[in-house]
This record gives sequence, structure tokens and C-alpha cells, in this order.
Amino acid sequence: MADPIATTDQIIDRYGAKKEALVQILLDVQKEVRWLPRDVLKRVTERLGVTLNQVYHVATFYKHFSLVPQGRHQMSVCLGTACHVRGAKQLLGRVSNVVKVAAGETSKDEKFSLHTVNCVGCCALGPVMTVDGEYLSNPTTEELEKVVAACD
Ligand code: FES
Repeated sequence: MADPIATTDQIIDRYGAKKEALVQILLDVQKEVRWLPRDVLKRVTERLGVTLNQVYHVATFYKHFSLVPQGRHQMSVCLGTACHVRGAKQLLGRVSNVVKVAAGETSKDEKFSLHTVNCVGCCALGPVMTVDGEYLSNPTTEELEKVVAACD
């Protein structure tokens, strides 16, 4: 991965270092770097002329932003009511066992992050999970192992 500060500088330049573009800049940094490290946030303050408080306010307001490292592959297991009654907890257990990551955590090699969510809008397929935005309906351990093996 490229240097996060250099990446941040390129993104800021793209928006003409305008403070009005703060949210979009952070979105782009999150997409490229996968999270918002403190030194990146400090760079944003220096380049945009905003306070660290303002940057943290935005970074903590939107759930999309992460202030801790995120894996290259994002897994989410739905724990909404419909999925819950159909075995979401068991699915979460299977996923956690296969990727060896607890819910809410990222693997040490930063390959996988495992999250829980509440309803992803396809309750009839529950229990449901997503892997990098792709939906899986109640995958077995073997199916999960294949998915994980396909992730680089
Ligand atoms: S409750 Fe899981 S998709 Fe709706």
C-alpha cells in the first residue's frame, strides 16, 4: 500500500485543498487507506486549515469512517431480528471460526475485518452475511472456506 500521507496529499490536491470538501476527502482517504490514522487526520487539518476537533467530529459522526485499521476484505453478519431467529448467531460463529477473527475485530495481517449489522434488506434470505458487498445466504463452513480461500 502507498504511503498514507502521500495518498492523503494527492486526494487533498484533487479537491484543491478546500475545507468544504472535508467529508469527501475523508471518504476518499478511507477508501484508499481503509481507515483514518491519526497522522493522516493531522495532515488534513494542516492542509485544509481546519481544527483536529472538526476532523474528529466528522470522522466519528459517520459510521462509514474507521479510526482503527480495517482489513482488505470486509465481512458483515446480519444480526437483525429476521436473521437472528434463523440462526445468525450460529452463522457469526462459523464465520469467526473460519477467518479466526472475533466480531468487531480485524485480523493481525489486516486481511479480514468482521462486523455485525442490523438488517441488510434481504431478510427472506436470512441469516445473511456480506463479503466485500456480496450477499451470502446462510453459507456452510465449507462454503465460507471457499470464499476465504478466494480472497487475496
Ligand atoms: S434482518 Fe437480516 S437481512 Fe433483514
